[in-house]
Amino acid sequence: MRIKFLKDNQLVINKSDLKKLELAELYLNDKYHRITLEKSAKEVKKEPLRFEVINFILEKLDRKTTYLEIGVRNPADNFDKINASIKYSVDPGYENEENNVDFKLTSDEFFEKLKSGNILNPEIKFDVVFIDGLHLADQVEKDITNSLNYLKEDGFIVMHDCNPPTEFHAAENYYYRLSPSGGYWNGTTWKAFFNTRKRTDIYSCCIDTDWGVGIISKKINLGPSTNVHNPYFEYYVMEKYRKESLNLVTFENFKTLVSK
Ligand SMILES: C[S@@+](CC[C@H](N)C(=O)[O-])C[C@H]1O[C@@H](n2cnc3c(N)ncnc32)[C@H](O)[C@@H]1O
Repeated sequence: MRIKFLKDNQLVINKSDLKKLELAELYLNDKYHRITLEKSAKEVKKEPLRFEVINFILEKLDRKTTYLEIGVRNPADNFDKINASIKYSVDPGYENEENNVDFKLTSDEFFEKLKSGNILNPEIKFDVVFIDGLHLADQVEKDITNSLNYLKEDGFIVMHDCNPPTEFHAAENYYYRLSPSGGYWNGTTWKAFFNTRKRTDIYSCCIDTDWGVGIISKKINLGPSTNVHNPYFEYYVMEKYRKESLNLVTFENFKTLVSK
């Protein structure tokens, strides 16, 4: 784009470049873009962060604990901050070439190898599994099912990105960076969490912080399962019944629930 300022501050621009500028203005002033930007800005200010929730749970268990993180990217962001006695990390390294983890595998490969006795002890049970790998519903659901098989009876599954603030954050496409949500992407994780929330044999809630920290417990009653009718997993239905769909709670609520 060639824009020239003349001495008297007049702007010289050709017609096709003017069109581009008009388009940029439309984009920046668009209602959906503005609302989405506002919601992202609000979400990043929320506290506590995921590692603080996980550390609260680990401390509550008050024993030697074993932690598994699925999807690590940069360990300094979360994994390194976790206070567990034994920690394992799984990541195929799609987003970080260095990929300094214990198991450079996808979560499916990790659980397959675990089951067949190729890694660790197939009898292992984790106190906390943090699911934060591929954020597409079918994969997240597999991660939940596999994690439940290796979770202690009083252990917890913790999940990131369960509460997308807009449909743009909840898009399937991770790579489209001109989306109003920019680099913030929760994917379709909420759908797998919502599906799990229908189960009555386990308990679940979502702490309203850090893009939605989902919690699943086999033992502790975290609230009722969901009976929100959303057979096609439509975002607008989840939005309308967000609280009931996700069992959205504050961190204070959650602390009370697990202290009963
Ligand atoms: C959102 S990042 C994880 C962030 C980290 N847990 C944190 O709290 O800062 C997602 C990671 O999942 C990894 N990933 C992608 N597909 C995966 C899969 N199928 N299994 C396990 N990890 C996967 C990516 O390589 C990426 O590093």
